[in-house]
Amino acid sequence: MNVNIMNVDYSTKIPNNVNLGEDRQVLKALEGWHPGYMDWWTDMGPEGFQQSLVYLRTAYSVDPRGWAKFDYVKMPEYRWGILLAPQEENRVIPFGENFGKPAWQEVPGEHRAMLRRLIVIQGDTEPASVEQQRHLGKTAPSLYDMRNLFQVNVEEGRHLWAMVYLLQKYFGRDGREEADDLLRRRSGDADAPRMLGAFNEATPDWLSFFMFTYFTDRDGKMQLHSLAQSGFDPLSRTCRFMLTEEAHHMFVGETGISRVVQRTCEAMRAAGIDDLTNIEKVRALGVIDLPTIQKKLNLHYSLSLDLFGSEVSTNAANAFNAGIKGRYRETQIEDDHQLKDATYPVLKLVDGEIKRVDEPALTALNMRLRDDYTQDCVKGMLRWNKVISSAGYNFKLNLPNVAFHRQIGEFRDVHATPDGVLIDDAIWNKRKSEWLPSAADGDFIASLMKPVTEVGEFASWISSPKVGIDNKPGDFEYVKIET
Ligand SMILES: [Fe+2]
Ligand SMILES: [Fe+2]
Repeated sequence: MNVNIMNVDYSTKIPNNVNLGEDRQVLKALEGWHPGYMDWWTDMGPEGFQQSLVYLRTAYSVDPRGWAKFDYVKMPEYRWGILLAPQEENRVIPFGENFGKPAWQEVPGEHRAMLRRLIVIQGDTEPASVEQQRHLGKTAPSLYDMRNLFQVNVEEGRHLWAMVYLLQKYFGRDGREEADDLLRRRSGDADAPRMLGAFNEATPDWLSFFMFTYFTDRDGKMQLHSLAQSGFDPLSRTCRFMLTEEAHHMFVGETGISRVVQRTCEAMRAAGIDDLTNIEKVRALGVIDLPTIQKKLNLHYSLSLDLFGSEVSTNAANAFNAGIKGRYRETQIEDDHQLKDATYPVLKLVDGEIKRVDEPALTALNMRLRDDYTQDCVKGMLRWNKVISSAGYNFKLNLPNVAFHRQIGEFRDVHATPDGVLIDDAIWNKRKSEWLPSAADGDFIASLMKPVTEVGEFASWISSPKVGIDNKPGDFEYVKIET
């Protein structure tokens, strides 16, 4: 790529509503950061297709009636913008010890370190998923899906920009250092890994991609919602706008899984298969059997639960007290927003049993957010199960128990079945391949991952979407691979 970065007019090249043109200092910091970002995109962004024309939406404003434009773009020329939701007049801090006081427009000194850390952790997840998904373009099941992958990727790139803007604008020199480090860490790298576990896992195939966008992007949604409540107004406004884009990522996941399930059911029906646990027979049809889909779901859901951290956490309590990170839909909750005497039931391991124990609500905020997350996850499950039952099959996809396959929190040192029965090491090792994808499952799925690049066609294992992106017809060329 040959962009002469010296000639880039950053104030106009970067769509923004933060008056970048007149903010010399931030403009200079972004100019300094941009070449490193482009190097990162070249090294760690989607493999191949960088010169293809992709039908992408680009955010250019925050007007809910029309905030994005669709057009063919080469990914390296995507205009990663900096957009904050409009400032609400007289906004107050909606929770914590400073409840009701005016929201901060500058970083409150006493909470500076905590705020910076939360922004860095959020920022670190954005490029990580791009890195995890970089190989997938080559095996896309259709041009439609390829386009969706790249849309998610460029928007995660923009989310990185959004966090870097906050670091550079509000945190001075150490903010700039953090911004550079966000480009230095790499998903799965032994020396400089990404900060959170799920973001160092491989995303080896498209079913994983759909599970990731359904379950892990949804963790992102919950985190963004709680940061959108922040008393630090620029963070709140940034996250509110990011949520607009995030909805599409979860749409990609939900409809992706739905289409896989649908194709499997159709193929089984057509072949007259009644026993859907006859995996060999189902796989011979070139579709993914439902028990394997359940295993993938078990894996991604449990990895995503770990992202919420320990159920009981003083960090979470401190961030809430400080007015930095609130609860999901904080302003719609009817209580004192300070949690002075409130309790919250937390699932804990008590004498070898999983029990609900009342804890101070303040320290149980991670648990609460995780519960909200689980409720949100259930919605998709209902839709997928409807596809299965409509096809006449008696099978339900289920979320595994929270004690299943955990690395963080109360259940990290025990083993449990997806039904929440505690088991010992020996049984776990003997049976875990019934519950989590085995190497053989991975090999089978990998064998299906053959690219389909003819306009309007789809791989054998996934059905076509009900509607096109931007209302385009089924034979729309979402990616012009050769240009
Ligand atoms: Fe994101
Ligand atoms: Fe996302």
